[in-house]
Amino acid sequence: MSDSRPIGIFDSGIGGLTVVHEVFRQLPDESVVYFGDTARVPYGTKSAQSVQRFAMQDAMFLLKYNVKMIVVACHTASAIALNLLCDQLSLPVFGVTEPGGKAALKQTRNGKIGVIGTRGTIHSKAYDRYMNALHPDIFLMTQPCPLFVPLAEEGWMDTDVTERIAQIYLSSMKRAGIDTLILGCTHYPLLKGVIQQVMGSDVILIDSAEETVRSVKQVLQKKQMNNPGQRKPIHRFFVSDIPDQFQEIGERFLGCTLSPVEQVDMEVIEMLKISKISSMKIE
Ligand code: DGL
Repeated sequence: MSDSRPIGIFDSGIGGLTVVHEVFRQLPDESVVYFGDTARVPYGTKSAQSVQRFAMQDAMFLLKYNVKMIVVACHTASAIALNLLCDQLSLPVFGVTEPGGKAALKQTRNGKIGVIGTRGTIHSKAYDRYMNALHPDIFLMTQPCPLFVPLAEEGWMDTDVTERIAQIYLSSMKRAGIDTLILGCTHYPLLKGVIQQVMGSDVILIDSAEETVRSVKQVLQKKQMNNPGQRKPIHRFFVSDIPDQFQEIGERFLGCTLSPVEQVDMEVIEMLKISKISSMKIE
């Protein structure tokens, strides 16, 4: 058995391309439909209620393209809305919280793990719940780093200002002696260099994209849902605002030409109401 339908991936904006990059690398035969909610980014500063509504609408938008599964590439949406999506949708839904958490638990040597993310992600306590349920003895320290998102978006990867801000955010983690740090936000891998420098070379940084796609691959194989690979995969990219910018950054980041990025009318997205979900179930 096989399934040639695309994998649906969404994020609040461009950051979820880290997951797309991993799909291209680990699952080159799979087609992708990506939605970046560039009109409503950032999610990390919004209320849980708003993030849940946005995430639900993003997922429903992807369902229109007959996706076989959904990957919530946004850490904030994953931390706040994953349970809701899993409850409401009858297709496999993957988040980035658990794969990152699992990888950190595997890697730590001294049992002291740090998590950095947006305010939304950290305040949701999604990592605390997941890690403590698996390993109640683990020492977990969390820290919101809201300024990292605009710094990464401005391309300020290795400026003095970025280093100083990283020192301020990370000083208590460093003092606590954590040996594994989860980069719990799509943008933070872009600041890996400065984060590693501040934390020291002994600290292992966890980038969840790779782990997430590894789990996706396992499920595809187990459920025999792989694309048989007879036809070349087709990728489509949608955004809710400024497609040109997404096209330019996306092509630079993925290192390939993308089909023209399509703009979705926000009114269409806003009209996707949760009450319609049951009629859109596809299994
Ligand atoms: N994609 C978000 C995340 O991974 C970061 C940007 C935002 O706040 O929307 O949490």
